[in-house]
Amino acid sequence: MVDRWTPDSWRAKEIRQAPVYGDAAKVAAVEGRLRNYPPLVFAGEARRLKTALGRVAQGQGFLLQGGDCAESFAEFHPNNIRDTFRVILQMAVVLTFGASTPVVKVGRMAGQFAKPRSNDTETLEGTTLPVYRGDIINGFEFDEASRIPDPARMEQAYNQSAATLNLLRAFAQGGYADLHQVHRWTLGFVERSPQAARYEDLAHRLDEALAFMAACGITAETTPQIRETDFFTSHEALLLPYEQALTRVDSTTGDWYDVSAHMLWIGDRTRQPDGAHVEFLRGVKNPLGLKVGPTTEPDMLIRLIDTLNPANEPGRLTLIARMGSDLVGEKLVPLVRRVQREGRVVLWSCDPMHGNTVKSASGYKTRPFERVLGEVEGFFAIHRAEGTHAGGIHLELTGQDVTECTGGAHAITDSGLSLRYHTSCDPRLNASQALEMAFLVAELLKKERQSDGTVRRSAAAE
Ligand code: PEP
Ligand code: CO
Repeated sequence: MVDRWTPDSWRAKEIRQAPVYGDAAKVAAVEGRLRNYPPLVFAGEARRLKTALGRVAQGQGFLLQGGDCAESFAEFHPNNIRDTFRVILQMAVVLTFGASTPVVKVGRMAGQFAKPRSNDTETLEGTTLPVYRGDIINGFEFDEASRIPDPARMEQAYNQSAATLNLLRAFAQGGYADLHQVHRWTLGFVERSPQAARYEDLAHRLDEALAFMAACGITAETTPQIRETDFFTSHEALLLPYEQALTRVDSTTGDWYDVSAHMLWIGDRTRQPDGAHVEFLRGVKNPLGLKVGPTTEPDMLIRLIDTLNPANEPGRLTLIARMGSDLVGEKLVPLVRRVQREGRVVLWSCDPMHGNTVKSASGYKTRPFERVLGEVEGFFAIHRAEGTHAGGIHLELTGQDVTECTGGAHAITDSGLSLRYHTSCDPRLNASQALEMAFLVAELLKKERQSDGTVRRSAAAE
């Protein structure tokens, strides 16, 4: 017997990673105001994303999800939003063309503020303070006042999310996403890359394809698909008072939707089947993500799948595996097999960031590009061997030229990390590392498609 769900039924469950606010009346006042604010996304958009993800779960297409580890109030600037949007579009074009497959684009943007942490406190030079939990909760600066959770930050996060979404919608529909333009930026990247020879072929074939289409009259002026794109938003639904306040009944279906983003996910630290986060998300109809780390047992995973997607609907649930390059072979195979054997329809996506964080010799939290790529390669190899679809990739990235992850074609070294280490949480791929990753993933996806039965059959018929 499943208990009745209400938007606040999570409050009766055990909760992890929640801030302790000092002033309950102030929290209630903020929640009351948020409940009256306009939705950030529409239920119909979330349904459209679910349909697109459903096709990917069934083998058609690929999910590209990426953005900051943590958005911040200080870094809020139109140029940052533009640059991250741009690099995601460039990656999507490379993947779409390189693997001849539709790519569903989902930003970790316009709401990705709350962070789960390994420890409740942080100690620096003998002083211990509450840990930073993301700008929607407390401040990054290492002083006592900043680290006190402040509910007013929820409204600032809402406002920043609304403004970010407004710009993203304009970029996606207003001409900035023109395929020719996006491709021109990518050509610039290829020219500057020390790996140019490896990427040139794909880039030039795409150039020719676009020129051919233009010659046939398929241009931004004649064809909306050339100048517009679908772009969705997502974040970890960690701060439940905020998410609950933005959960509304959709008037057309009578269903509940969390209108803070199109897609919400549950983090690896808050996925207890009886816990508050699973309880909250099981009741909203948005497409969901579930982070699946190395401690996930197959029985536990099936239980979570059945709680979050009891009707086994394609597109409802994306499993975001984040095992680490050294563990992916051992840990992912039993999960993929069990899900497959039990006939559960899920989209398997790969987060190669969170299992590959290391401390550099210079003391920075970093992620070596080769290890990130190693997990992606392992993920693809496993799905190829199991006959399942490697359906997506989930990256922490930025459009800025930061130095947070080592390696890549421009070979960022340990000692180079300090040059532009700007993240307020985890290290992100910079724009050129992210695009490089897209070229490499396109090669892997193409290989998957070539070993696919239909492609083999058509080759044999020639
Ligand atoms: C994240 O995606 O930023 C995150 C904290 O991931 P995970 O829950 O997988 O550790
Ligand atoms: Co992170």
